[in-house]
Parts: sequence; structure tokens; C-alpha cells
Amino acid sequence: MKVDGKHYRSIWRNADGLSIGAIDQRRLPHEFVVATLATSAEAAEAIRSMLVRGAPLIGATAAYGMALAMREDSSDAGIEHAWQRLIATRPTAINLKWALDEMRRVLRPLPPDKRADAAYARADDIAEEDVGINEHIAQNGLPLIEAIATKKRGEMVNVLTHCNAGWLATVDWGTATAPIYLAHERGIKVHVWVDETRPRNQGASLTAWELGHHGVPHTVIPDNTGGHLMQHGKVDLVMVGTDRVAANGDVCNKIGTYLKALAAHDNGVPFYVALPSPTIDFSITDGVAQIPIEQRGAEEVADMTGRTRDGRIETVRIVPEGSPVANYAFDVTPARLVTGLITERGVLAANRVALSSAFPERIVAAAE
Ligand code: MRU
Repeated sequence: MKVDGKHYRSIWRNADGLSIGAIDQRRLPHEFVVATLATSAEAAEAIRSMLVRGAPLIGATAAYGMALAMREDSSDAGIEHAWQRLIATRPTAINLKWALDEMRRVLRPLPPDKRADAAYARADDIAEEDVGINEHIAQNGLPLIEAIATKKRGEMVNVLTHCNAGWLATVDWGTATAPIYLAHERGIKVHVWVDETRPRNQGASLTAWELGHHGVPHTVIPDNTGGHLMQHGKVDLVMVGTDRVAANGDVCNKIGTYLKALAAHDNGVPFYVALPSPTIDFSITDGVAQIPIEQRGAEEVADMTGRTRDGRIETVRIVPEGSPVANYAFDVTPARLVTGLITERGVLAANRVALSSAFPERIVAAAE
């Protein structure tokens, strides 16, 4: 995707062929800063600190983290150490484990002196595959928007999204935003209601920034506005991403997604979830009961960071000193509230039969 006319991905291999470049998402929307990750420890810290975030990008970063680790220690112990260090960074997005397992599967059978090159090659492929998958998600999700545009006789299609499931959360294109970008490119009138997504504000800071750079009409709304908009016919469909989909079709995504699904259900608004297949976890049979939900630091809720009117970036406290704070980063939307799953192999029903028929190879991988 383009930033001020220049093509960027969210992560890439630098010209030296060894270090990794990534957009520092902690600094957006106020500053566009590119970070260099030169060690596996830096890759792990980038995931932990949310310099990079979003399930597919976390997976790609972890893959490059394994490649960096193979330059540091390509022994069997080195593979295990890097896997352990990277898996410990964040608990909910299954793409992290998927990418690490995939790297380990490729690296283990090789002699140590061949592992670094092979690791970079597989990490490059994982990044490239993500882009290809998201292009298919774009094509598969487009008819959903087109159908509404036809029904509305070319009037604006209003899509509500939560968090950032845009190109910044993936390597390129995004998942939930991919069909939106394609619809916009094709000349369909589309407008996006962007949930601000407290406490980290991925919607207000990242999704709005992305859409703005692409000229996609959008409006940032406080998180609790969606229900009101749906009651008044101002949302045609909801499209969100996900960090993990259980075998039964339950969908884990950024905290607050479940409430949007409930409001959509109550108002007859279709609720779609876009995902690449590495986000499916066939080892989990009940998403609500079994998906681990990350709990993050109190400061993310108690403090807010932004730009002052005179241009300084400042953090201020908005919660009384001493008030306890809870910060659950994700929630799970039960499959019964999901209209469909937009994947690289088509739009699927949110249930075990549809998921396992479309992605049988992933069931085998989950069992290993
Ligand atoms: O905590 P984050 O910012 O990593 O959470 C990201 C999300 O919840 C996204 O919506 C999800 O990863 C889908 S991204 C294509």
C-alpha cells in the first residue's frame, strides 16, 4: 500500500539482506517511523511492545525473528531457544505459533550451516503468502459489498469495522479492509465507520490513517456508537479481522468485537469476519472456553497518548490515581453471531464442517 505515493509493506527484508525493516506502529498516526530489527531479541520485543501488531504481521515478524536467531545460533538448542523466546511475546494470535511451528518444521531437518539461509527464504515466503492470501480475501469479500451497492442502487455502502485489520496488521492489503480497498478501487461508493478501539486506539490511530492515505471515505466513532448507528440503518455490514478462529467457528478478536456482533444480530446487520487460514486453530473446539485472552498493562487504560495542539506527543492520565483497572485485550464472538468467514478459499459458514472441508490440511497440522 502507498504512503505519500511510496509503496510500503508493513515488514520487509532490508537491502543488507539480513536486518528487517518494519513500520513502528506505536508512533502512528502522528509520526511515520521505520524501525530496524537486527536481532531475534529485537524481533521479540517488537511484537511484545506492539511496534508490530495484528495477527498476520505478528506471524511474519516471528518468522523473521527465527531467521535472525539462526544467524546468532543455528544449533538445535538455538532453534528451541528462539521458538520459546518468540512464543512468549503475546498469547492470543495463533498466527504467532503457526509461523514459529512452520519455521521449526523447515529448520530442524537441515544441517546447522544451512539453517540461516533457509530461514530467511521461508520467512520471505510466509510474508509473500500473506499478501497472496489477502488478495484472495479481497476478491472473495468484494461480492458482499457489490451486492449491497446494487441493492442500494449505487448509494454509499456503509461498513463498520473494529480495531485495525488493515494492511498494517498484515504484510499488505489487510484482511477486513482488503475487500473495502478493492471495492473503492473498482469505483463502488464505500464509507467505513471506524471504531476508535480503546484502549490502544488501533481504529482511530491506524485504520483511519490507512483509509485516509487511500482516499477511502471514513468516520471515526467512539466504540459505543455502533449499536445506535445500526438501529438507524446507517450500517450495511460489519467486517472485522480475527486473531484466532476455533474449529467450531467461534471468533476471537479485539475487545469489543463481541458487543458489535450482538448489536449486528439484534438489528439484522450482516457480521462478517475476514481471515487468512493460518488464523484457524483446529486444536480449539470451543473458542469462548478455550482461547487464551491476553491481559495487558493498566497504563493502556489509565493513560492516553496524543499530540498536543502545539505539536508535542504527550501522555496524560485519565483515571483517578488508585482506581484499579482491567485490560482484557480480546473477546470471543460465538459462531452463531457470525454471518460468514471471508477466507482465501471463499466465504464460509462459521462452523466445523465448513472450516474443515475448506482447510483439511490445517486439521492434520493441528494434530501434529
Ligand atoms: O492487539 P492487536 O493490535 O495485535 O490486535 C489486532 C486485532 O485484534 C486485529 O483485528 C486482528 O489481529 C486481525 S488483523 C488482520
